[in-house]
Amino acid sequence: MAQKIVVTGGAGYIGSHVAVELLSAGRDVLIIDDFSNAHPEALARIKELAPGNLELLERDLANPAHNDDIIAAVKAFGADSAIHLAGLKAVGQSVAEPMLYYRTNIGASLTLIRALDAANAKTIVFSSSATVYGELNDSPVDEAGKTGAANPYGRTKLIIEDMLKDLAAADGAWRVVNLRYFNPVGAHPSGRIGEDPNGVPNNLFPFIAQVAVGRRKKLMVFGDDYPTRDGTGIRDYIHVSDLARGHLAALDYLAGLENGGALDINLGTGAGYSVLEAVAAFKRASNRDVPYEIAPRREGDIAEVYANAKLAQKLLGWRAEKTIDEMCADHWRWQSNNPDGYNTKV
Ligand code: UFG
Repeated sequence: MAQKIVVTGGAGYIGSHVAVELLSAGRDVLIIDDFSNAHPEALARIKELAPGNLELLERDLANPAHNDDIIAAVKAFGADSAIHLAGLKAVGQSVAEPMLYYRTNIGASLTLIRALDAANAKTIVFSSSATVYGELNDSPVDEAGKTGAANPYGRTKLIIEDMLKDLAAADGAWRVVNLRYFNPVGAHPSGRIGEDPNGVPNNLFPFIAQVAVGRRKKLMVFGDDYPTRDGTGIRDYIHVSDLARGHLAALDYLAGLENGGALDINLGTGAGYSVLEAVAAFKRASNRDVPYEIAPRREGDIAEVYANAKLAQKLLGWRAEKTIDEMCADHWRWQSNNPDGYNTKV
């Protein structure tokens, strides 16, 4: 029988790529999404890319009025595990509206845990973030690095990680992997699904892509006076399809464990690129100009962070395969074929 996996936030940027990977591997998928930061068209595109058994439950995991429906649906689906990606993720907004972040991200996790418990499906892969390392470590940073988030968004990630660890410690039937993502970029190589941010993009790649396609005039490079090789910030960009494969590898790893437990695993490439290097790679891939201006540093940014990704290789047999040029080429294919994201008229 096919493995049955609940994917919360499955219509979003990372979730849609995870769903395609799971369906392509013959798994059955139930997406729970409230479309607060996702487009229904993404569902149609997932189906187009990967035929298989895909169900949708349009509900808000953080809304107590939806709890009963969610618990019933996870049970009826016959779930045996979940990949938990639903949550809010804008750092600036989390500073302005911290309670919204605690309520939404932690509330959604509590509901999912209740539903999995009721379905006796005690396996969860959680979408955490390298942001949990804050500014406390030199790169490459491994999973034993000190944690301490610098904003409410990051703190919700840490709290949920800890919650899942407490759960696994109390009940040995729970199997948990907290995946600490570095900077996911790129899009499915088909150009059919990709990142479609609401409003002005916060993150570098969607911003560069919108400049290259002519939706925005220029990129602001936040600081060129960091102690890095060209003065701009260095990050570990990882292709979203590599990242999606990492989730499948984590599920397979958990299924093969003799006992339950919880652990943290970095998903990154292990290599860092500066903002200016990313811009240059995107220009090469798109053959478009990407005008930019040096601006002051963005509050809360750090000079450099990239992964030690050896644990994922050792335990999951996974490593990132796609180069920065492939990330840019695929990101550009998505952006140029869908200049207005999922609202693009075809
Ligand atoms: N940058 C610019 N101009 C921009 C946007 C970003 O120069 O318009 C620079 C940043 O200063 C940084 C690099 O590009 O040096 C990457 O910035 P991103 O915003 O793309 O990503 P961050 O590394 O800042 O990570 C942030 C949060 C993470 C979160 C991640 C994904 O800190 O917690 O976005 O949402 F997981």
